[in-house]
Amino acid sequence: MANLFATKSLTKLLSESSDEHNSLKRTLGRWNLVSLGIGAIIGAGIFVLTGQAAANYSGPAVVLSFMVAAIACAFAGLCYAEFASMIPIAGSAYTYAYATLGEFIAWIIGWDLILEYLFGASTVAVGWSGYVVSFLKDWGVTVPQAISSAPFAYDTATGQWSSTGAIVNFPAVFIILVMTALLVTGIKESANFNNVIVFVKVVVILLFIAFGISYVVPENWHPFIPENQGEFGHFGWSGVFRAAGVIFFAYVGFDAVSTAAQEAKNPQKDMPWAILGSLAVCTVIYVLVGLVMTGIVSYPKLNDAAPVAVAVNTAGEGMNWLRTPIKIGAIAGLSSVVLVMLMGQPRIFFAMSRDGLLPASFSKVHPKYQTPYVTTIISGSVAALVAGLFPINILGELVSIGTLLAFVIVCGGILVLRYKRPDINRPFKTPLFPVLPILGILSSLGVMATLPGDTWLRLIIWMVLGIVIYFAYGRKHSKVSNQPAE
Ligand code: ALA
Repeated sequence: MANLFATKSLTKLLSESSDEHNSLKRTLGRWNLVSLGIGAIIGAGIFVLTGQAAANYSGPAVVLSFMVAAIACAFAGLCYAEFASMIPIAGSAYTYAYATLGEFIAWIIGWDLILEYLFGASTVAVGWSGYVVSFLKDWGVTVPQAISSAPFAYDTATGQWSSTGAIVNFPAVFIILVMTALLVTGIKESANFNNVIVFVKVVVILLFIAFGISYVVPENWHPFIPENQGEFGHFGWSGVFRAAGVIFFAYVGFDAVSTAAQEAKNPQKDMPWAILGSLAVCTVIYVLVGLVMTGIVSYPKLNDAAPVAVAVNTAGEGMNWLRTPIKIGAIAGLSSVVLVMLMGQPRIFFAMSRDGLLPASFSKVHPKYQTPYVTTIISGSVAALVAGLFPINILGELVSIGTLLAFVIVCGGILVLRYKRPDINRPFKTPLFPVLPILGILSSLGVMATLPGDTWLRLIIWMVLGIVIYFAYGRKHSKVSNQPAE
């Protein structure tokens, strides 16, 4: 049993990352990393889910829900920052767990991160498809539902799957394949492309805030926390927390920055900065969007797939000019999220393969582009398939629960490592130790508790499948546990 908990030495980890043959290019500066973070964060959460959360659970207090979720993310973000500055190589939480909690937990978290990145890309691609179809409709082009929505639907109330009559969500498949092609040809180019689209989506959101504020009708904010309707989660304080669970998805992705640590020019300094910086920027933006949106529109009317557009329409004539830019911004924004998610996943597979837990061919680097092209193509193909077949609500909740589980393990890793290896150089230290990592674990578990039982069940099935694969393949091929201890 001992080798289940074999850890990989930090010296080895760091020397591998500078190995000439298998190394990735260090091209990303501080601002590229912040942009990568914002690129991963602002997406379907704010553009699609905010309105539903306000209308069904929290009312204008969705603003508080954003703050609650941000606090949970900040605890985890500080722990991620400590790890990323200490172990600045590819693989994110997977690598951190390997160095601290042992191979089995590392595998568990690596497998779990597939839910965040690969399924995350699929989820946002489905949101992208919705906005593109609606944008094309504004221009007189109708995309048939049969090729623009999932063939399966899931009714959360009855727990039943049904067929929708559609064949495949083609636009969702399309955007994943385009982004995959872009990623195969090079991260520097992808980062530049990412900077442009991040700029577009942030400008559009800032325009919405700046112009929308003058259309706010303060009565819409009263009552700020609508009275609870007798059931947990339906308004009142419990609604604020329930909505925090729903809009948690809006923050998923800040940790994606850490997956690019091996391609960062100065990871020790820039990683903590980029993780916390992108989280802070997005929190401010979300709170302001929440305030303006619920100030313009009375919250029950926000139950729509495009709540920002609803707000623009409600504001009337004066804001009509923003209709098209908002949709373009959303489409650009969602594209950048798909890109970053699809960039994170192959780098985790890359690290797992280098350790022998996945086949060696996965860690091939492209001779010309120097990208992990095998894992990029595999991740892209699976993500495209998932995006083409499944509905956004099922995917979104799976992504949230998977990400929260990763947060729990990362915060736990920080606790364990400070006691086990106090000697390691930590360019960035999580403050208020051990209170902060403990609060990180508790707050992530708290948000997980607001997600429905079906989602928990799917998480458990996924993790059991991963454990079977580990014992059937990874354990036998692992380089670390099959080598004599150093
Ligand atoms: N945070 C990302 C989004 O909202 C996943 O789309």
